[in-house]
Amino acid sequence: MAESRTSAQGGMETSYGFRDVAEGEKQTLVNDVFHKVAKRYDIMNDVMSAGLHRVWKDAMVAALHPRKEASYKVLDVAGGTGDIAFRIVEASDRKAHATVLDINGSMLGVGAERAAKKGLNDNLTFVEANAEELPFESNSFDAYTIAFGIRNVPRIDVALSEAYRVLKRGGRLLVLEFSEVDMPLLDRIYDQWSFKAIPRFGKMITGEAEPYQYLVESIRKFPNQRDFAAMIGKAGFSRVTFTNYTGGIAALHSGWKI
Ligand SMILES: C[S@@+](CC[C@H](N)C(=O)[O-])C[C@H]1O[C@@H](n2cnc3c(N)ncnc32)[C@H](O)[C@@H]1O
Repeated sequence: MAESRTSAQGGMETSYGFRDVAEGEKQTLVNDVFHKVAKRYDIMNDVMSAGLHRVWKDAMVAALHPRKEASYKVLDVAGGTGDIAFRIVEASDRKAHATVLDINGSMLGVGAERAAKKGLNDNLTFVEANAEELPFESNSFDAYTIAFGIRNVPRIDVALSEAYRVLKRGGRLLVLEFSEVDMPLLDRIYDQWSFKAIPRFGKMITGEAEPYQYLVESIRKFPNQRDFAAMIGKAGFSRVTFTNYTGGIAALHSGWKI
């Protein structure tokens, strides 16, 4: 299970890929990764997942089944370049409103440009902030989504508590994240792909291998499906379930604030 540890100096430590770092340092390193890759982030997602991230994101939004009402409000945390928010707005026939929150201005900048090109500005708000300290009143949103974001947050338990706080009663949490592969042959192929191919493609396309080394390592350090479901329950959510995608390469966790 993901947890923070106390370091020899008495501060709290967490994982940055396979390394242990101070909690404060992790966020700085993560921010550096996404500043470096922001402009090439979308193309790298297609290369790294062989296009599968689109299928998983579509499945997440289908599971959310957004209401086709202007009063329906979604908060997409670690929303980056907007993939989830765009899909939610489209699935609501451009009625719902999505707030895209991310700690990284470079990622949001790319997202805002894409939103303008798609003509989605009226349905979207971009907010630069930390998932651990949401700048919203309690009980404000009908849904909270986070895709491939939570493993980058230093204090996952704090982010989940914040998710619970800002959701309305009856609101839904959906977390899409890389997870533990549970198919014997697939796990070996996936290991080769992750540790050999992805950092090389990253270097070819973005000129940097290190951010992609972090990304694959951080996937392995993230809690498995059951442990993460337990963390969601601990944050107060009810009816916590998960669905594996592509043999567990990714998983969608769901919880409700009742
Ligand atoms: C892998 S990207 C996911 C982007 C998008 N959700 C998607 O699925 O394409 C991870 C995002 O998490 C953001 N992030 C990392 N730490 C964060 C934090 N503490 N609060 C908010 N966003 C954070 C990064 O800036 C980055 O944009």
